[in-house]
Amino acid sequence: MSVKILSVTLLLLSMCVCFSSSAGIRGPTKKRPCCVDVTNLDMSPEVVGETYREQASSYPCVNAIIFNTEYGQLCANPDAQWVQNLTSTMKKVQ
Ligand SMILES: *[C@@H]1O[C@H](CO)[C@@H](O)[C@H](O)[C@H]1NC(C)=O
Repeated sequence: MSVKILSVTLLLLSMCVCFSSSAGIRGPTKKRPCCVDVTNLDMSPEVVGETYREQASSYPCVNAIIFNTEYGQLCANPDAQWVQNLTSTMKKVQ
């Protein structure tokens, strides 16, 4: 039971379905969804592109680094080492 909840949570985290990518397909200008949770898991193999965004915390949104992946955007913990390694070689955009 709790294992199931955990795996669902991880899936949601890794996909960050709350996002519609800025290169996105559709969706008029409704207010931009935000990261309400971040992952510490090293997802660097999934990250594409050379830019990332930083999100300030503003409840319920949390402080996050937002990467692009093949399947959408990924909310990552700014304090995670892999995130810092990646962002040091990437360009920040807003
Ligand atoms: C981050 O970079 C350092 C220095 O290159 C490396 O030793 C370390 O393994 C990297 N950590 C992660 C989690 O990628």
